[in-house]
Amino acid sequence: MATTYQHDVLIIGGGAAGLSMALRLADDCNVAIITKGPSKDGSTYYAQGGVSAVLSEQDSFDAHIADSMSVGGALANQDTVKFVVEHGPENIRWMQQLGVPFSSDIFKSGKRELHLTREGGHTHRRVVHAADATGKAMSDTLENHARQHDNIRFFEHHIAVDLITTEKQGMSNGENRCIGAYIFNQKNKQVETFQARFVVLATGGASKVYLYTSNPDGSTGDGIAMAWRAGCSVSNMEFNQFHPTCLYHPEAKSFLISEAVRGEGGKLLLPDGTQFMHKFDERGELAPRDIVARAIDHEMKRLGISCIYLDISHRSAAFIASHFPTIYKRCLKYGIDITKEPIPVVPAAHYTCGGVNTDLRGRTDISHLYAIGETAHTGLHGANRLASNSLLECLVFAQAAARDINALISETYQYLNISNWDASRVTDSDEDVVISHNWDELRRFMWDYVGIVRTDKRLQRAMHRASLLQQEIDEYYSNFRISNDLIELRNLTLVAELIIRSAMSRKESRGLHFSLDYPVANESSIARDTVLKPEHKSNKEKIKIIK
Ligand code: FAD
Ligand code: SIN
Repeated sequence: MATTYQHDVLIIGGGAAGLSMALRLADDCNVAIITKGPSKDGSTYYAQGGVSAVLSEQDSFDAHIADSMSVGGALANQDTVKFVVEHGPENIRWMQQLGVPFSSDIFKSGKRELHLTREGGHTHRRVVHAADATGKAMSDTLENHARQHDNIRFFEHHIAVDLITTEKQGMSNGENRCIGAYIFNQKNKQVETFQARFVVLATGGASKVYLYTSNPDGSTGDGIAMAWRAGCSVSNMEFNQFHPTCLYHPEAKSFLISEAVRGEGGKLLLPDGTQFMHKFDERGELAPRDIVARAIDHEMKRLGISCIYLDISHRSAAFIASHFPTIYKRCLKYGIDITKEPIPVVPAAHYTCGGVNTDLRGRTDISHLYAIGETAHTGLHGANRLASNSLLECLVFAQAAARDINALISETYQYLNISNWDASRVTDSDEDVVISHNWDELRRFMWDYVGIVRTDKRLQRAMHRASLLQQEIDEYYSNFRISNDLIELRNLTLVAELIIRSAMSRKESRGLHFSLDYPVANESSIARDTVLKPEHKSNKEKIKIIK
């Protein structure tokens, strides 16, 4: 007999978005948090620079809005940007009340104030941080509170496979409602049925679709893929943000060197020690990320070099060790003393600006299904995200979506009789090499053909390969028992297709999408989002259910 759970709210994801939403809900309803691995497996835990919010008297909401709009390449949604920016300070105060140890300074007057750092694209110091390990400080605090709450239950090592909707179950009476999810329990290898009155996708981004990324292994776009299969529209999937500075060292997988290093004076250097950023943008090292990453890519290709350098060694050793203790120690482990020498760095895939379309309450196209955090497309980032606006978005939309659910929770609800997962027609895989091979192939061709610089021809090549992979993986998925790798590969391949389709349809260069065939922004037409809508395919859906 398959296990079935019932909760008021099922939150898939335990990063900043999922945890903060759970805490905002749990006094009024019971909540399940699902995470693929152990908790803290998402990007949140690794966040370094901080959270942007208007907290200084020299700064203003208007300035933060203007910076977000400008970095977003005229594609960010003004209403969303205003909403997020204006809710920033209260969310930082909430985090402080919970006990997040943000870095602060004591002034001559004896007053203690939050230390605000700078990052690219910001015209003011407005990034609140906990030294260079802001995400760890936030995760630890949020999780400690959540673990102590009687109404929150964690399900670690569980991976959501697909959403359950009334339409897929043949129960729809006009409205397609999300009523739960099928979740693969990695310990007993069973797919369990989680029923819920409200389902929240807080599954993070999809940067793992690229060969080189700053993200942890679980950033495989699962929420985007599940929402798409269930019938949600997605937007702006072509805007994949590459962080300019990840550590270049054979043993250092995915280690980021925070933009705050440049915010505090770090210089980007060619191997001969010359600075180059001023050739590309008058803001130099603190130009928005798309410009810096492209400039580095250009210089690396022009000179045939495998990395460039980031130098902060002109600051005092004490300053470096206190502001960047994590980066300092990690680099030292690889034999690089950043107080004395430059750090070898390269760009790597970092953030998924597009995602599942939502409104300002976090609602998606499907009733009772919400998407928050990096998996969502709220309109905040447009064609390029302003640094440190992501954690802010996680907090603000968790608050907004929780408020929406809290207002609806008193409605009466009858749990429906949902079909259990049927694994009776599948067998154990005979050739797991198919999965590992396809993982590698996918990530490599996405890096080579759909990376920082694109062309029509490269995108066509990528689309051809993505289609072949999809066919192969669909067949594999229909015939063999599921595993983590298969679930993630199936999702990543779909996300790759959405990225390529979106990129192919944008016949201009804007923000993070740069095409050699259309090197400038198309200013003759109004900037538009790339919106993709799934065809109605519930009949063909390969979800394995039995009545
Ligand atoms: P995540 O924190 O990524 O969490 C996703 C969760 O979903 C995980 O718990 C995962 O297990 C779960 N999940 C995913 N799929 C499934 C599934 N199928 N089933 C069950 N569970 C699932 N942004 C900033 O604003 N400031 C910064 O300083 C900053 N620094 C960064 C540094 C690094 C190295 C990285 C990688 C990112 C950084 N970002 C930063 C971006 C930011 O950290 C992320 O966008 C943000 O943390 C995303 O939070 P999230 O809650 O949406 O998802
Ligand atoms: C960083 O610290 O450079 C990451 C900031 C971000 O991604 O917003």
